[in-house]
Amino acid sequence: MNTLTKSEQQRLFFALSPDTQVRQALQAVGRRVVDGGGRPVHADDLHMTLVFLGQVGDERLPDIQAVADGISMAPFDLCIDRFGWWKRSGTLWCAPSQVPDVLPGLFSALQTGLADCGFPPERRPYRPHVTLVRKVIQEGSGTLDRPVTWPVNSFVLMASRTWGAPPRYRVLKKWPADS
Ligand code: 2AM
Repeated sequence: MNTLTKSEQQRLFFALSPDTQVRQALQAVGRRVVDGGGRPVHADDLHMTLVFLGQVGDERLPDIQAVADGISMAPFDLCIDRFGWWKRSGTLWCAPSQVPDVLPGLFSALQTGLADCGFPPERRPYRPHVTLVRKVIQEGSGTLDRPVTWPVNSFVLMASRTWGAPPRYRVLKKWPADS
């Protein structure tokens, strides 16, 4: 298991992080559904956010880890079979049509535990998605001819930076699903 590195403040979020094969399949989806343009997310950065924490001081890390330590998650499969576009951000994303109960369960468990530690819960409804391309001006949505099956065996705490060249996200710690 990885250990957390030291720094003063980091931009943190919990996420599902795909393996290399799923990463490549998701990247290929982005290439297929966007006809050029936009800023494709680096393959190493592709992920599904669970809970976004924002800028967090390192002194909060033990509490955050303790919340995740207390969660048990059964492994599950995601079938990524549709894509869509959000106009305001120009985000082209893909997502599952059928969300297994484990996923909102994991989101709720994290959010509740984090709220108990003083992190304000997200007000917007949870919309599980993987951002594929940013700043897309071409509208698009539909189903995928070749859905991507994503076996989910863990969840992770990630840190992001908003500057510099991608990849921008790194895994700080991984929590495996129940075996
Ligand atoms: P996005 O992919 O839809 O942009 C790291 O920035 C991750 O956290 C991204 O997956 C991003 O979602 C998500 N994120 C960034 N800012 C957020 C916010 N204010 N609320 C919820 N999620 C956010």
